Amino acid sequence: MKGMTEEAPEEIKERVKELREELRKHEYQYYVRDNPLISDAEYDSLLQELKELEEEYPALKDPNSPTVRVGGEPRDEFTKVEHSQEMLSLGNAFSPEDLRAFADRIKRRLGKDEEFNYVVEHKIDGLALILRYQAGELVLGATRGDGRTGEDVTANVRTIPAVPLKLKREVDIEIRGEAFMPREKFISLNERRLSRGEEPFANPRNAAAGSIRQLDPGIAARRPLSFLAYDVIQALEYSCSSHLEALKLLAELGFKVNWHEQAGDIETVIALCQDWVKRQQELEHDIDGMVVKVNQLDLRPLLGATSKSPRWAVAFKFPAQQKTTRVKDIKISLGRTGVLTPTAELEPVEVDGSTVSRATLHNEDEINRKDVRIGDKVLIQKAGDIIPEVVKVIKEERTGQEKKFEFPESCPACGEPVFRDPEEAVYRCLNSTCPAVVRESILHFVSRDAMNIEGVGPALIDRLLEQDLIENQADLFFLEESDLIQLERMAEKSARNVLEAIEESKSRPLARVIFALGIRHVGLRTARLLTDKFGSLARIREAGREELEEIAEIGPVIAESIVNYFATPRNNRLLARLKEAEVTMESKSRQQSLTLEGYKFVLTGQLENFTRQEAAAEIEKRGGRVTASVSSQTDYLVRGESPGSKLQQARQEGTKILTEEDFLQLLTKED
Ligand code: IVH
Repeated sequence: MKGMTEEAPEEIKERVKELREELRKHEYQYYVRDNPLISDAEYDSLLQELKELEEEYPALKDPNSPTVRVGGEPRDEFTKVEHSQEMLSLGNAFSPEDLRAFADRIKRRLGKDEEFNYVVEHKIDGLALILRYQAGELVLGATRGDGRTGEDVTANVRTIPAVPLKLKREVDIEIRGEAFMPREKFISLNERRLSRGEEPFANPRNAAAGSIRQLDPGIAARRPLSFLAYDVIQALEYSCSSHLEALKLLAELGFKVNWHEQAGDIETVIALCQDWVKRQQELEHDIDGMVVKVNQLDLRPLLGATSKSPRWAVAFKFPAQQKTTRVKDIKISLGRTGVLTPTAELEPVEVDGSTVSRATLHNEDEINRKDVRIGDKVLIQKAGDIIPEVVKVIKEERTGQEKKFEFPESCPACGEPVFRDPEEAVYRCLNSTCPAVVRESILHFVSRDAMNIEGVGPALIDRLLEQDLIENQADLFFLEESDLIQLERMAEKSARNVLEAIEESKSRPLARVIFALGIRHVGLRTARLLTDKFGSLARIREAGREELEEIAEIGPVIAESIVNYFATPRNNRLLARLKEAEVTMESKSRQQSLTLEGYKFVLTGQLENFTRQEAAAEIEKRGGRVTASVSSQTDYLVRGESPGSKLQQARQEGTKILTEEDFLQLLTKED
């Protein structure tokens, strides 16, 4: 091997550069333009030549060389990346009326004099990717994750041939698009998997997502993924005034751009959407709908976003896949808000690539309206990620054996009477100690988007509740190894893992903790807005309706729900226990700045408000240090009742002496 120490000769450098340019040109022609200029064999031989030169002269290696398409070193986990701009999701429209309502909302906000039009695109059923380029070179590929933070999947993204590693201009830019697996490629991949005795992927989307989240880029490289770009972040900065111009810019930079068409009004949008419902099979990849976006970029900030999605765009979802099956039974399940939801248990059927054995019946009125009975043959549907539902009963097939379902008058979990909420048409169990409500609340608390306590799932929670080891969320933090070990099927090692996971969750960001509390109507996004404005649970608790409603996205219903939550003694007891467990109660950015950084303290005598340990902890939290004896290095001596000889020493050293009151003032100074 040369090159590690030795510089490559000029002519080699030239050849490598030439090969890379040549290969890039052909990649672009093949994968982006669908217009190959040379045969695969010719391409392979150029690539082989480049590979050999890079092997021989490792100093010439480049992370964005066409040779990286084959994948790099496997890794242990993905690092998290914070997105430069939050990636929201899209609101849904299911009918022409929904699309008209979307247009009306926009017109109302902008006023009737504002002129605008739309761009209609395919909604690709894949995995959203965010790509960052610096001076035209790909430096980051990330997944959407929770919208704020995603995972750094750059090594895998580099293996997708339709993702340019080097743009046609040396710009700094961030773009978004969708990685997906073309349908044909998906079918043959599954055939290969089956023939090797491996589990097939449920659908092209799962296959794409699974490939992007592969820890071994070598495997990702062998998965036939493609990429279509649909968005430029901060497009205004690249002198694009419309989305159409942004899409044109993407094409000029070398991206394969998602299908799109401009539409002057909502009726044209509707016609395009309906046209593609029929034509979707023409495409080489799956689309699950259309995305409609306001074209004028300067109008987007004016329209803003709701709690979940921008008001300037909407997803028109294609009609759901439907199948028939039989209702075996109707069961009631309880949610954490005490709502009783009837669910149909079905004979399992395959819909949209997954097996469905349950469908929601929503509420009593829905059961009556559709007249669903146990034993009925029913038409069910599933649209995307939506919970499967019963569309209608096939009454022609009734035998007379079907049984009507009686909605229970008491809670199936606690036996207390249930109440019908006239506004929501639902029955609710109002018993806050109802075991089902408690269980669901705890499950929500530990769930992924909330405290994300790994290893603590339904099975363990059920056992802990059965054995009276916990009564609520906070009790989890006071579990001991001996509590867990006595449980069936719990070895010492798993007990320790569980305790570690619980311990680790204490430092989750405040927004997660707020979301985990399960306050009605407070989702993760609202929790984040509350965190940003108030910074601590204590401040949120003090806030009245008015102050809460100062947050644009919080209206009277959410505000009231928050106020009610904090007015309930049971909730306050829970919060006190969580605080005692040292679960995050303040946002990290507002937590104590290190106001005592660099200062040395000595404590003497009895303090009124703290034990010695507590006082030391307060000092250390702020970056200060506590030592046992006074020296010339000591900055402060804190004196309590009946101080010891340290007071004398401090006087001799000329150390500053603080009473407890001075000390308290020092602590609260810049909090
Ligand atoms: S725009 C603020 N355009 O749909 C929304 N998204 O629900 C930014 N998707 O996670 C997204 N095709 O994965 C946009 N042409 C398209 C899309 C598209 C598919 C996906 C994307 C995103 C989800 C939004």
